[in-house]
Amino acid sequence: MIFINTCAIRDNAEQRVRTRLHDFKKAKRAKPSLIVGVLGCMAERLKSKLLEEEKLVDIVAGPDSYRDLINLIETVEGGNKAVNVLLSREETYADISPVRLSSNGVTAFISIMRGCDNMCSFCVVPFTRGRERSRDPESILEEAKQLFENGYREVTLLGQNVDSYLWWGGGQKKELDPDTVHKALHHQLPAEEQQRFTTFADLMEMVAGVHPDLQIRFSTSNPRDMTDAVLHVIAKYDNICKYVHLPVQSGNSNVLERMNRGYTREDYIQRIESIRRIIPECGISTDIISGFCGETEEEHRDTLSLMEWAGYDFSYMYKYSERPGTAAEKKFTDDVPEKVKSRRLQEIVDTQRNLSAIRTKRSIGKTFRVLAEGVSKKSDEMLSGRNSQNTVVVFPKANLNPAIMSM
Ligand code: 5AD
Ligand code: SF4
Repeated sequence: MIFINTCAIRDNAEQRVRTRLHDFKKAKRAKPSLIVGVLGCMAERLKSKLLEEEKLVDIVAGPDSYRDLINLIETVEGGNKAVNVLLSREETYADISPVRLSSNGVTAFISIMRGCDNMCSFCVVPFTRGRERSRDPESILEEAKQLFENGYREVTLLGQNVDSYLWWGGGQKKELDPDTVHKALHHQLPAEEQQRFTTFADLMEMVAGVHPDLQIRFSTSNPRDMTDAVLHVIAKYDNICKYVHLPVQSGNSNVLERMNRGYTREDYIQRIESIRRIIPECGISTDIISGFCGETEEEHRDTLSLMEWAGYDFSYMYKYSERPGTAAEKKFTDDVPEKVKSRRLQEIVDTQRNLSAIRTKRSIGKTFRVLAEGVSKKSDEMLSGRNSQNTVVVFPKANLNPAIMSM
């Protein structure tokens, strides 16, 4: 069997999957009993259409149907094609452990929620992953403890929008009225009532308490939902990394409105100011999209100026890729020419390169605590890891204290 786990976030991700599928043609011809399955978001987006478009595919399984894989395989062995693209309102895979381990035996990922309710107009995630659901904090805590006992020294808590994580007495957010949800998320309920809820800030405190030697990271924060409560928890615990990934997407309020991001340039600036005030040494990174529908030269320059202002440590930068079925596809025209998108992206990349160089220069002469994740790709004599701010640090093995080496 060959299963490909897929992403649908941009068109080039899907094109790569299609190329890979064509590579399997020969293998399938040589061995007709070979089963080929496409799993994940691209499967969810295209559903049974994928079976028509890619004849060699036998199984199409969306992100909520992993428990059903055995049945799907049996269906194929019975001579039929098999599709399960049902999205669940409850599935969090809480009892399936571990979610994701790195091969280094040191760092691991724990998914704390699934789905997204934000409906950014450019984004396919709400369609491919379904409604947002949070995972039981006890099961998250248990997994973190297990990982620590098994030698892991870093966990990254993962969600599309970790700041809207909310758990209460075994229920999900959708069963509550929006005002209570808002107050609970911002820790504004009377103390007794607030106690019933676990917010992301509470969850981080719980996980930070597992062991001082277990380092904690998280991703992704959302400027619309990030609370100061979370920032105070980050500042309070030495084992929570001083690093926030806060995707801005654009530095212009009109573009942000068209993107349905729920914040303005000014709101975003305030968020960054809060981070800098509460966690002065915090590393900050972002995601940026160039050439969204209707983006003018001036709007693009607002993105560059915001980058300069924020001084990002690093950025993930993309050209806008129209996704079928999204609000942007329905409401706007993808009217920024490819060449202009590329040039703007290049300007964004160049701006980031300068900012990263400034950050590197600032680090000269400083000492950082680094969790070694493995041997450097470039030299066997060097180890590689990241500092609290998530910057990769490569350092000679020889510098290590022998006492540390034997730990
Ligand atoms: N085109 C380009 N980039 C996108 N992203 C999400 N959807 C699109 C799209 N249609 C980017 C956003 C998001 C990151 C994970 O991917 O920047 O934060
Ligand atoms: Fe997509 Fe917006 Fe949700 Fe991120 S927050 S996954 S960009 S809809």
